[in-house]
Amino acid sequence: MADQMDAVALLKADHRKVEDLFEQFEKASGDGRKEKIAKQICLELSVHATIEEEIFYPACEGKVDEDLLKESYVEHDGAKLLIAEILKGGPDDEFYDSKVKVLSEEIEHHVQEEEKRMEGLFAQARKAGLDMEALGDQLTSRKTELTEKFTADGIPMPTLTTMDQVEV
Ligand SMILES: [Fe+2]
Ligand SMILES: [Fe+2]
Repeated sequence: MADQMDAVALLKADHRKVEDLFEQFEKASGDGRKEKIAKQICLELSVHATIEEEIFYPACEGKVDEDLLKESYVEHDGAKLLIAEILKGGPDDEFYDSKVKVLSEEIEHHVQEEEKRMEGLFAQARKAGLDMEALGDQLTSRKTELTEKFTADGIPMPTLTTMDQVEV
């Protein structure tokens, strides 16, 4: 279909959307408004991390720098810890705004690692010849499914992929 986005276009569009939401959060005043935007950020990031980890990252396995790919999973888990905190807490948490801010900084770094020219994850994946059209279709349908589910049932507490050394 002509209007289908390829995998990288879809994932980059998600990044832009969440960057915009972080900006809105910074400017927002009023607890209700802030909480609404923070929840939207958590929804977008939860869906995005899930589709990357279920579909895009596994497709990159063996085709991109292994260390970079492993770091991507760990960075996701770092973000998930903050997402869980933000979901459980609310604007009456004295660290609420700080958690959202630090999450935005972590995401900014992670997005750079994915989008960097030449050596970024997406550039490496494209160079390796991944079928971005087919992956785009898979990402799109899973994204729709998860967004509907998380909107209807609430955003689930994130599950960590790489962190199993300590009980927290
Ligand atoms: Fe991403
Ligand atoms: Fe990612």
